[in-house]
Amino acid sequence: MDGRADTIEKQVLGPLFNPLEMANTSTAQFVNKVRLASYWHDIQKQLNIKKTDDDSVIIDIVVRAISSYERSQEFARFSSKYDSWLQGKAQLSFMESKGFRVFERADKGNCAACHTLKKKNKNDKPLFTDFTYDNIGVPANSSNPYYKIPKKYNPQGQKYIDYGLGKSPRMKSGKFLGMFKVPSLRNIELTAPYMHNGVFSTLKEVVEFYNSRDLESKWGKPEVPYNVNHNELGDLKLTELDIDALVAFMKTLTDGYENEK
Ligand code: HEC
Repeated sequence: MDGRADTIEKQVLGPLFNPLEMANTSTAQFVNKVRLASYWHDIQKQLNIKKTDDDSVIIDIVVRAISSYERSQEFARFSSKYDSWLQGKAQLSFMESKGFRVFERADKGNCAACHTLKKKNKNDKPLFTDFTYDNIGVPANSSNPYYKIPKKYNPQGQKYIDYGLGKSPRMKSGKFLGMFKVPSLRNIELTAPYMHNGVFSTLKEVVEFYNSRDLESKWGKPEVPYNVNHNELGDLKLTELDIDALVAFMKTLTDGYENEK
């Protein structure tokens, strides 16, 4: 989300060794686990791996296997009610289609300004992201564990702040502090909690935040006060019905709709 990995392969490596994710402490430790796994014998035979092969060969296989799966049709099914609707095979309910209009219209939710419905090629499916980065002013999540961060970012040992793209290891300047990649909204119903720090637990809360961030103090200050987007969100003037409709629309993006063959 902070732009540090520019290929799926590089992204796969991150969570394996991140102390807050899978927390492997060395490649040797990780490779040992793979060698003990139930699938190892099969992989070894199929790919003709020798006992003498280096750890890096094994890491490479794991990375390629996960990336291939992530590129496969099973992983990106595009089988939601929304997709059926696009093909004329399903009808949206009143709330869902109202939500779609609120999502799209610049004078309503304006969500599609970032979570875009545009496609590069005719046969592409909308991905609900324009792949840009933005700071939408998400508040800090006080229930996140304190996390030891490099001293140069945190000389006073303060609470962890995620600066996003601005402090991604690949960026030379802090120009983009607080900006995160616009995430896809496909299957969003299934992936709570929301935002990079998991501060919101329901989709309704997310929409209420977009709607009244700049009006209500209950949302708290942005985790990173720089570059906050005030033009496109924060005071949307949505009604309660608009809010519920947006949530209903987002739930049409879940794969596995009954028409799936
Ligand atoms: C200016 C660009 C922009 C607009 C407009 C926008 N979003 Fe977002 N959205 C983002 C970014 C960036 C994030 C990730 C923020 C983060 O993690 O801190 C995000 C995150 C989300 C998430 C959480 C995704 C997750 O996986 O945790 C939801 C849900 C969402 N947006 C829905 C909406 C809806 C509904 C609207 C319209 C009311 C909307 N967005 C308008 C940029 C935008």
